[in-house]
Amino acid sequence: IVDKPAIQFIIEEAIQSGIEEILIITGRNKRAIEDHFDRSLELEAVLEHKGNWELLEEIRYISDLADIHYVRQKEAKGLGHAVYCARKFVGQEPFALLLGDDLVVHEEPCLKQLLRVYQQFGGNVIALQSVPREQVSSYGVVASRVIAPGTHQITDLVEKPTREEAPSNYAIMGRYIIQPEIFDILATTAPGRGGEIQLTDALKTLLDSQSIIGYEFQGKRYDIGDKLGFLAATVEFALAREDLVRDFSKYLRQVVNNLPQETDPTA
Ligand code: G1P
Repeated sequence: IVDKPAIQFIIEEAIQSGIEEILIITGRNKRAIEDHFDRSLELEAVLEHKGNWELLEEIRYISDLADIHYVRQKEAKGLGHAVYCARKFVGQEPFALLLGDDLVVHEEPCLKQLLRVYQQFGGNVIALQSVPREQVSSYGVVASRVIAPGTHQITDLVEKPTREEAPSNYAIMGRYIIQPEIFDILATTAPGRGGEIQLTDALKTLLDSQSIIGYEFQGKRYDIGDKLGFLAATVEFALAREDLVRDFSKYLRQVVNNLPQETDPTA
């Protein structure tokens, strides 16, 4: 996004929320992630030699961000399976889970908002956002009872329901605080929607023995796993940058003025 790998925004959100130990669950062909957060002594030496202190500080900042560990998910068996890969790293403590496709922008980082709710209610906490009915099939969707402003006691969860099956239009967004008992459940969770092991299904089982709170977080969320969402994030993040806003706005105005008239009859 502009000049930063999207995952760095996620790492920064975790750190700004008070997280100190981070595990990135990667897949095949994702070595670039490890390289990005690693120290590059060769590059540092070149920059030092050239006296490029600004860039040197920037790349040192990246590698100093946090203690970052990696585990590789060897097969793409779903989000539930990816989370299960973290069981040894996490051990017997509650943990925060941030999905790399969801970027949230707000003064108070999204995860910090969830941690605030966790301090009050304990148990498990998930991020919620209401979505238009026609989009429910892209998300995990919950049934719930409102217990405080923006705060829901979850009573059911369904992964990617059809519009008819959806118990509400409150969708789960990619931020969770979860108790470690989820790992034993994941170990025996059968493949669900899409033939994948679904975290949502495991959370539904966890509901039999623990509370799950849903929180309608403040902030704008970008789905950067979606092409349009990625473009929106790129444009809006660039417009929020002091060093780019002038020239980029000028460019955008030109582009928009040269757009052909809308010809799509359904638009
Ligand atoms: C995953 C979860 C889904 C959640 C979504 C949020 O789906 O399975 O419950 O609503 O993330 O982005 P995915 O987007 O990986 O298909």
